[in-house]
Amino acid sequence: MATIQIQPRLGKGDMNDPHKRHDSEPTTHFGFQDVPESQKAEKVAEVFHSVAAKYDLMNDVLSGGMHRLWKRFTIELSGVRNGNRVLDIAGGTGDLTRKFASLVGPTGEVVLADINESMLKVGRDRLLDKGVAGNVKFVQADAEKLPFPDNHFDVVTIAFGLRNVTHKEDALRSMLRVLKPGGRLLVLEFSKPSSDLLSKFYDAYSFRFMPLAGKLITNDADSYRYLAESIRMHPDQDTLKAMMIDAGFERVTYHNMTGGIVALHRGIKP
Ligand SMILES: C[S@@+](CC[C@H](N)C(=O)[O-])C[C@H]1O[C@@H](n2cnc3c(N)ncnc32)[C@H](O)[C@@H]1O
Repeated sequence: MATIQIQPRLGKGDMNDPHKRHDSEPTTHFGFQDVPESQKAEKVAEVFHSVAAKYDLMNDVLSGGMHRLWKRFTIELSGVRNGNRVLDIAGGTGDLTRKFASLVGPTGEVVLADINESMLKVGRDRLLDKGVAGNVKFVQADAEKLPFPDNHFDVVTIAFGLRNVTHKEDALRSMLRVLKPGGRLLVLEFSKPSSDLLSKFYDAYSFRFMPLAGKLITNDADSYRYLAESIRMHPDQDTLKAMMIDAGFERVTYHNMTGGIVALHRGIKP
């Protein structure tokens, strides 16, 4: 029986209370809002607690099924083989994990890790329903502080997760640490469309259709407005490439998909 290693939710009276604000505290963006850094994770958590139950349906509706192709390319480029150890961080409902589990076989291992227990529970139930078990572990973890040994994984993936992380540089360094030398990181994320015409169409689609679809299907326009805003605030292709190199990755490359709406970055641990 697959278990999830769950951590308690932070209460308002806890140490490091995210509701306490120090005037000197740096701020960061939550979509287009500026918020104290200590509050971003909690706000992101609210979004994913809210969308978890209908996450897969909304993925298909909003991307017109395209997310399946973007993920298929990620799997191809990962080069995952029989016996590998793979970490799918921010793995959510487990699309990548499911495919990796069949590629690594019974001698390999896949860890689906996510900070959000609602997403993890939907992911675990879904994978168990599909008969995936045995070589998959479910772990509640923050990408910034991965609770795994050094030099442990052959491949680490983060799909549509990095833009939600408060300290992206810390997360990239944490992913580097847990990879074996020669291991590969794949970052699948929304990015910057390469043509102005596509950008205009995409803006109209994101800021009008996405919140409307969120309201009609999940009665939650705000989460889908955050989705559109967080995509615009995420580093573009070359900025993310530079961040991966700064974190210590080598041979960093990226591939644009769907005109740059999505990009897949890959880097190797020296
Ligand atoms: C848009 S979903 C992507 C899920 C899945 N990877 C996919 O492609 O369908 C983003 C996921 O990132 C997770 N997440 C956000 N911040 C995180 C963090 N700091 N560490 C780990 N996971 C995080 C969320 O809980 C959510 O499940």
